[in-house]
Amino acid sequence: MKKPNGKSVFVCSNCGNESPTWAGKCSACGEWNSLKEFSPAVEKSSAGAKILLSKLSDFTNKKSFRTQSKYSEIDRVFGGGIVEGAVMLVGGEPGIGKSTLVLQLIEKMAPAIYLSGEESPAQIKLRADRLKLKTENIFITDGADISGLENILDEIKPKILVVDSIQTVYDSRISGSAGSQMQVKESGLVLQQLAKKYNVAVIIIGHVTKEGLVAGPRTLEHLVDVVVYLEGERNRDARILRTVKNRFGTTDEIAVLVMSETGLKEITNPGAIFLSETENAPGSAICVLLEGTRPLLVEIQALTTPTSFGYPRRTSSGFDLNRLNILVGVLIKRAGLNLGGQDIYLNVVGGISANEPAADLAVCLAIASSMKNKTLPKMSAFFAEVGLTGELRNVAGADKRKKEAKNLGYTPLTNFKNVREAIDKTLV
Ligand code: TYD
Ligand code: MG
Repeated sequence: MKKPNGKSVFVCSNCGNESPTWAGKCSACGEWNSLKEFSPAVEKSSAGAKILLSKLSDFTNKKSFRTQSKYSEIDRVFGGGIVEGAVMLVGGEPGIGKSTLVLQLIEKMAPAIYLSGEESPAQIKLRADRLKLKTENIFITDGADISGLENILDEIKPKILVVDSIQTVYDSRISGSAGSQMQVKESGLVLQQLAKKYNVAVIIIGHVTKEGLVAGPRTLEHLVDVVVYLEGERNRDARILRTVKNRFGTTDEIAVLVMSETGLKEITNPGAIFLSETENAPGSAICVLLEGTRPLLVEIQALTTPTSFGYPRRTSSGFDLNRLNILVGVLIKRAGLNLGGQDIYLNVVGGISANEPAADLAVCLAIASSMKNKTLPKMSAFFAEVGLTGELRNVAGADKRKKEAKNLGYTPLTNFKNVREAIDKTLV
């Protein structure tokens, strides 16, 4: 085995971990025989790189050019249309509708190149036909190697390039198989450089599990200009498209979409779309979220059961687990709920996430309701942030939330001093 000469590093082709020495097993991911030697391409020179300086005032700002699709709600999530030369990441769970969304979106952005590492062109044509899209200006390839992209970008000069998905494409100039962290990161970098060089908008599709555990796309988030996530449950129709990062606009916008026979449809008046049809039951609380400009009623469900052995379990889907642990602490200490020996399971119905502080009170009430096995008042809705002393804090857009709840036949209950009072008055 060659000894490191002080210049080269050993990079794991599975997880991308760098180490100064070679080893049979990667110390980070445990993969065997995955370390490859890399020598830095540029020799160190004593002169240092030449840096060119310009005056900031010499730059004229040309207005960034945005293209609108047929879908005004989706455009709003992207900050008012797709900016040329921007790199966008569309994330979501497998089967949630990412490919469908992107295909609908690019119809008008001709010419477009669709690089499919997942489905055959025939399958994509089938989908396009179902969506009744015009396809003359969409060029497709099922080659998954992106190292030759530059040539076709030069030839076709597309307005938009779609990469579906980042886990299935690779760059043959880089070691590691498709989907490895190294490939995801490096392919992302290559795509970013191509976007800037050819002024083409690039949409990268990436699979992410609910817990965000797939190592891939998350590492791309800081590299791209816009990150949107498509949320929802596969067996239900409602979807939320949410911006989590946008260099060209705000990040608190959502679009509510419904998956239909003929693709995703926009819902401009979403209101109650994420509520379950079941009757008011112990452990269920309705919360009014305000996502961007759209108020949204969602149901929060909690289940508490005595811990059978060891440490109590707390699991959460659609709500931050750390936040849940804090709220449980508040409920124990400030509301006198005996949750110390209880497993707690929390779920936001509809597969969406409720990461707004306004969801706190509904989370607390759902837990208390399950614990006491009592239901909250019929058709009641809640929104308030819960502080560490158990106090309830106002949240932005109270009037808008109240109005939407009333429109949908719900009574917004807001007049409580603290979480203990809210529990005592609603769970009787
Ligand atoms: P897809 O876009 O393939 O999901 P992803 O790219 O995120 O994996 O679509 C997923 C599901 O959507 C698929 O099971 C079929 C359904 N679907 C519809 O209900 N209506 C439609 O018009 C289309 C195209 C798909
Ligand atoms: Mg797909």
